Amino acid sequence: MKLDVLLGLQWGDEGKGKIVDVLASRYNVIARFQGGPNAGHSLEFNDIKHVLHTIPSGVFRPDTINIIGNGVVMDPVIFMDEINELREMNVDITKNLYISKRAHLILPSHRVMDAALEASKGKTKIGSTLKGIGPTYMDKIGRTGLRVGDIINSGFEEKYQHLTQKHKDTISQYNYNFDIDEYEKKWFEGIELIKSFKLIESEHEINKYLEEEKLILAEGAQGTLLDIDFGSYPFVTSSNTICAGACTGLGIAPNKIGNVVGIFKAYCTRVGSGPFPTELEDNDGETLRKQGHEFGATTGRPRRCGWLDLPALKYAVMLNGVTELVITKADVLTGFEKIKVCTHYILNEKQIDYMPYEINEPLTPIYKEFNGWSQDISKITSYEELPIEFKDYIKYIESQVNVPIKVISVGPDRDETILL
Ligand code: GDP
Ligand code: IMO
Ligand code: MG
Repeated sequence: MKLDVLLGLQWGDEGKGKIVDVLASRYNVIARFQGGPNAGHSLEFNDIKHVLHTIPSGVFRPDTINIIGNGVVMDPVIFMDEINELREMNVDITKNLYISKRAHLILPSHRVMDAALEASKGKTKIGSTLKGIGPTYMDKIGRTGLRVGDIINSGFEEKYQHLTQKHKDTISQYNYNFDIDEYEKKWFEGIELIKSFKLIESEHEINKYLEEEKLILAEGAQGTLLDIDFGSYPFVTSSNTICAGACTGLGIAPNKIGNVVGIFKAYCTRVGSGPFPTELEDNDGETLRKQGHEFGATTGRPRRCGWLDLPALKYAVMLNGVTELVITKADVLTGFEKIKVCTHYILNEKQIDYMPYEINEPLTPIYKEFNGWSQDISKITSYEELPIEFKDYIKYIESQVNVPIKVISVGPDRDETILL
């Protein structure tokens, strides 16, 4: 048995949470493999709207096992808040949420370091969600981090104090005021809560499930263009968001990857700083933001909006080995007289059709224009009923990236989904 991977092909917020929730009924296990509470994955069904940060999006399906893999970084405070919110909704997942002992912990001082580092960058700031993601992965790679498995061993508090002191010494160079006492208290409460969950070695657990023919979906966070290696560095997150991240973030071999489901919005958004060749700073951009409610699920920041970028999408399809596509937020394009798609860029007076290393240099997009449609498509349930203009739009995308679109999302609700 092989494991399927679902991930974002743009700059995050493609609708991964919604689609994982839709597909979760087909799987026995949903596993997060990277990122942390910088993610905000929204789910909507039966008039419930919910945002998950650390917890996998299979959590509302009672028979699904959810795994937080070794590649994830966890903030015990945010995790505790998430669990409490779920309990208020009568969703208790103590029995079907497992956490890898190898997952790294975000310390209160990691959050402060994130904020101090960003503040020191001035105009070159990344626009981090300030959840401590970068500093936690720095400690992981620097071999100084604390892991979930450490919390059940003696000497944990000592290790915590030692690392926190190291961070305080670093922060003192930044002239940055902070007070972590309150947060620290809650942090240790969160640590106790984590102890009440089944702590696993995800590599053994997941490979055992595969042998037992269980169906597993790995849920990505962020998006391909935020990948630490292939994204618009340095305006990226600190993990491998691409499909390969599922191997290292869960402990599965590359030949165990089955379908790779790539999600993209019918247009593009980005939150935080960094290059965005098709960004619209005009009325069309404003309309996309309004119609698409494009405000961050984690930070509430307005998302930057622009037209679909094909060279970027092709790049993402290549890096991930995408086998099927999901297009989301198609309904948001309703009402546009003309819809544009970027097919090429001009870089240093030359036309190119790929995402270059020089992504941080000015790239001028070249567009192909499509006719829009005015009909509300959010209640449509079959492909046949969709407006011809929309069909032309997606047929063109499929022909350019050479991967079939298997799901069309026309609204935020679980039911507003057309499966092809
Ligand atoms: P994620 O991080 O990839 O899970 O995406 P987010 O949850 O951060 O952002 C996607 C937003 O779009 C959420 O508010 C979703 O409820 C919403 N959404 C998802 N799919 C659709 C869709 O097809 N149409 C509309 N209008 N909204 C959608
Ligand atoms: P989901 O999983 C959109 C962006 C931040 C910032 C950069 C680095 O909901 O798609 P970090 O906090 O990782 O140091 O921020 O990455 N970013 C996201 N943008 N969706 C996300 O997650 C994101 N997670 C991080 O805005 O530009
Ligand atoms: Mg999000």
